[in-house]
Amino acid sequence: MPGMLELTRCLQRYIRANPNSARQLDWAARVMPGGNTRSVLFYEPFPLVMTGGSGCFLNDLDGHRYVDFLAEYTAALYGHSHPVITHALTGAMANGLNLSAHTELEARLASLIVERFACIEQVRFTNSGTEANLLALAAAKAYTGRSAIIAFNGGYHGGVLSFAGANTAMNVPHRVYLADYNDMDSVERLLHEHVDIAAILVEPMLGAGGCICAEPGFLQGLRERSQAHGALLIFDEVMTSRLAPGGLQEKLGVRPDLMTLGKYIGGGMPCGALGGRADIMAQFDPRQGRLSHAGTFNNNVLTMAAGIAGLEQVYTREAALELNARGDGLREHLNDVLAPLAMQFTGQGSVMNLHPTSVPIRRPADIPTHRNHLRDLFFFHLLECGIYSARRGLFALSLPLTDRELIRLITATHTFAERYGGD
Ligand SMILES: Cc1ncc(COP(=O)(O)O)c(C=O)c1O
Repeated sequence: MPGMLELTRCLQRYIRANPNSARQLDWAARVMPGGNTRSVLFYEPFPLVMTGGSGCFLNDLDGHRYVDFLAEYTAALYGHSHPVITHALTGAMANGLNLSAHTELEARLASLIVERFACIEQVRFTNSGTEANLLALAAAKAYTGRSAIIAFNGGYHGGVLSFAGANTAMNVPHRVYLADYNDMDSVERLLHEHVDIAAILVEPMLGAGGCICAEPGFLQGLRERSQAHGALLIFDEVMTSRLAPGGLQEKLGVRPDLMTLGKYIGGGMPCGALGGRADIMAQFDPRQGRLSHAGTFNNNVLTMAAGIAGLEQVYTREAALELNARGDGLREHLNDVLAPLAMQFTGQGSVMNLHPTSVPIRRPADIPTHRNHLRDLFFFHLLECGIYSARRGLFALSLPLTDRELIRLITATHTFAERYGGD
């Protein structure tokens, strides 16, 4: 098994190859804490700085070109400057950006979303997935008249709703009880201990928690238990809604009361959405005056136009099935190559995460940390092969990727296994 020495050598080559990115971080650090305005993007010794992208490729400040296997943490499903999206954006830009009014666009995007996701009868837009989840929790508390939430260890619902352990000072002060993913007993216990649970908030696949899939029956169990206890079931599909034409809930056959969306749903522009049962969403009807939900850019025309173009013309039902079938095939292939190193990808369809272990992963606590240097080595090895991913191991496929790029990733994984797979 390769040790820290191989990683140290790889890091030295990285530092030598990227002087301009290093300089840029130093420069940026004079005016932003750590040179950073989005924590997830930072890694030691310094992160790459990108200058642009096209299709499934990215260019960095030191003149390297990468195949983009991160796709903006799943939001860049359409790749960079997709012609259909670009056309929609230029059209919207030429027509006035800030109209201070309802437009026809938000109702069109809302219709596409209602048609696509079975649990959504009505929808409201936000500027981010985080906001959509905040809105969902407020709606659930107001609707049930209860005040507590069940979420899951390792769950991530945004920068202020993160349950991975380290972020508690940033979290909004909801009363949240944490259960374990794929563990119905832990949920059942909380439901019995606390009579005031307004909602269970869950990702149908843990995303930032490591692309950990829900086991058969777990989500259905949540559906039944939440109903029995008078709590609402909220699916956070900000990351997973791309994994099947009607969201992961369609593939898994479970219908929540509310769901949240984000990432690609605005065509790559800032966005989020909350949708679900009409009787719950009716609380936001200004004619009834129960819940007021503000947001200057909730219906901004760029997001609305790009979102419509994407759902209507590009990410069709067929495109979703095809992309996710490719992702499943790729993951299986990569896992065959990595098995001798006791490494594996978990995930579904077009979104996956590398873990340096061969043990089955049911929840984040199953992921060992003592072999993280292997995951890091894979990340830096791929950069040397011209492939960009997330240091934490996240990979997301975008639509412009062709078989050629998938083969490039497979070949680079073979090289990794050959180079580092010996004793
Ligand atoms: C499952 C999930 N929920 C919510 C969010 C937050 O979305 P945003 O970054 O748009 O606020 C994310 C972002 O990664 C996510 O993966």
